[in-house]
Amino acid sequence: RQNADYDLSTPLDTNGVGLRQNLTAYGDAHFSLFMRKLFIKALGYSEDALSRPIIGIVNTYSSFNPCHSNIPQLIDAVKRGVQLNGGLAIDFPTISLHESFAAPTSMYLRNLMSMDTEEMIQAQPVDAVVLIGGCDKTTPAQLMGGISANKPIIHLVTGPMMPGSFQGVRIGACTDCRSNWAKFRAGTLDIEDISALNEELAPTGGTCGVMGTASTMACILVALGMMPIHGATAPAVSSARLRISESTGAHAVQLAKLQLRPQTLLTRESFINAIIVLQAIGGSTNAVVHLMAVAGRHPAVAGTIGLDTVDDIGRTTPLLVDLKPSGENYMTDFHNAGGMLALLHELKPLLHLDALTVTGRTLGQELAQTPFRPLPPHSPANCIHPLATPLYPASSLIVFQHGNLARGGAVTKASASKDRRLLQHRGRAVVFSGSADLARRIDDPDLDVDADSVLVLQHIGPVGNPGMPEAGLVPIPRKLAALGVGDMLRISDGRMSGTAGGTIVLHVSPEAADPASVLGIVRDGDVIVCDIERRLLSVELSDDEIRRRQDERREEQKRPGAAATPWQTRRAARGYRGLYMREVNQAEQGADFDFLTAAGPGGA
Ligand code: FES
Ligand code: MG
Repeated sequence: RQNADYDLSTPLDTNGVGLRQNLTAYGDAHFSLFMRKLFIKALGYSEDALSRPIIGIVNTYSSFNPCHSNIPQLIDAVKRGVQLNGGLAIDFPTISLHESFAAPTSMYLRNLMSMDTEEMIQAQPVDAVVLIGGCDKTTPAQLMGGISANKPIIHLVTGPMMPGSFQGVRIGACTDCRSNWAKFRAGTLDIEDISALNEELAPTGGTCGVMGTASTMACILVALGMMPIHGATAPAVSSARLRISESTGAHAVQLAKLQLRPQTLLTRESFINAIIVLQAIGGSTNAVVHLMAVAGRHPAVAGTIGLDTVDDIGRTTPLLVDLKPSGENYMTDFHNAGGMLALLHELKPLLHLDALTVTGRTLGQELAQTPFRPLPPHSPANCIHPLATPLYPASSLIVFQHGNLARGGAVTKASASKDRRLLQHRGRAVVFSGSADLARRIDDPDLDVDADSVLVLQHIGPVGNPGMPEAGLVPIPRKLAALGVGDMLRISDGRMSGTAGGTIVLHVSPEAADPASVLGIVRDGDVIVCDIERRLLSVELSDDEIRRRQDERREEQKRPGAAATPWQTRRAARGYRGLYMREVNQAEQGADFDFLTAAGPGGA
């Protein structure tokens, strides 16, 4: 039996599909293919199987990741879809990140996961790749890596978990985790209740069942065109989720034949669509950081999408989806109301319908081709509001672009504010110098604070507290919570979980650790102004006073015996931490590593 692949007299056609990619390992292409085949045959593949387009499936299953617990079943279904359509499905692992099991934070590891994803897609002979992710940082990491690798990719998410139940009331991770914990802190729930809640808040595998970061990113993947329209909302434990997986496998084979790559598929218009959806769903503030990082990976889009784009689009995009934390419902309700298909139909007048999708068709063609019968508007089961009667008229996410406190920008989710008067507020700063200081003093009965104070938390930015923890939801001081104070204006350079609510200003840039930061020199008693109408965030200090305090801080940090700051020591740290500390950029650039961006070395 002769195999043309080993005929040394004819040059090997290495432009074909499958195993023929990157045959450079041994100099001799024929020998490289020969070696590759003999090793993969050890897994039992036939020559026939190996002649097919190879669809890689990224497996991010981990026993530490309940949000990804269904991945083994999803992989089975994807493989079925690939193989029924003439491809060969081969799954391979990458890092898996779960929010609760990724110290110091999952954000710290997002860029590592993106590098892992990019390099494994590059390294292996795959014609297209199905990226299976779900938990908050996994989908952006995969998209960032996938864009940089620029082989055809299609996303599949694990899907949201089901809601649980406590004393007849539906509950779900993790908006209700926080609200109930706050009640426990205020003494209105006892230890029995909080233990019972702990059993029910995440009653199934899958991602958090509200409009947190995972759900937001799933919806954004659809809006970008990187995931089929039905892909975002079906519950993790549903058979619909398995059928979506099967059809994703089929789409992947098609994508391999088209060789439609993310840098071709994605345009500025795709990102505009994504931001429209982000605003209309009242999405997570984290998604703003991720979108900046994702755009920054794309040579033709980088620099054309910024925080200002998010704010501009917000002004003309109403909030339509009534989900926690901005509203009342859960992802299962959104799914039952038609999910992204219904939402995109509602948003059609605003969207760029000629943007491409992973099916090879445009978003407009997809919407025209997918059968859809909307629920009656305003029916109790419909958590998607009509464009004409939105839940919130515009700007669910707001970017501060003026004032002296955040010259690089800051973000707030206005739709999740519990006391909207605080969005137009002037108050006295109560400053915490970091998470440890906050933990030590926030519940001190002698803390000089009242309901009008502005709680300022410094040093939880990308470098100052590596990984930029989701500590921006500063708790209401216990003595005020006990008096019934439910919301206060809170400002930090950190992030907040997409499942959280309150009047919280996040991602203040430059971060406090940066010697050029203004946030870093704010002191107790300074007057802070938050003016949402003017997108202004300021501290009432003159430029001279700001400069004086910055100089003073620099001198203090240089004083012999002064503790070294993370900013000063970042060039000396080893390993991944060192890489992170040296390379991470600020929130408005996506907290990506400079050298991974399209503008970085080797980039466009
Ligand atoms: Fe994974 Fe919330 S912890 S999505
Ligand atoms: Mg989260």
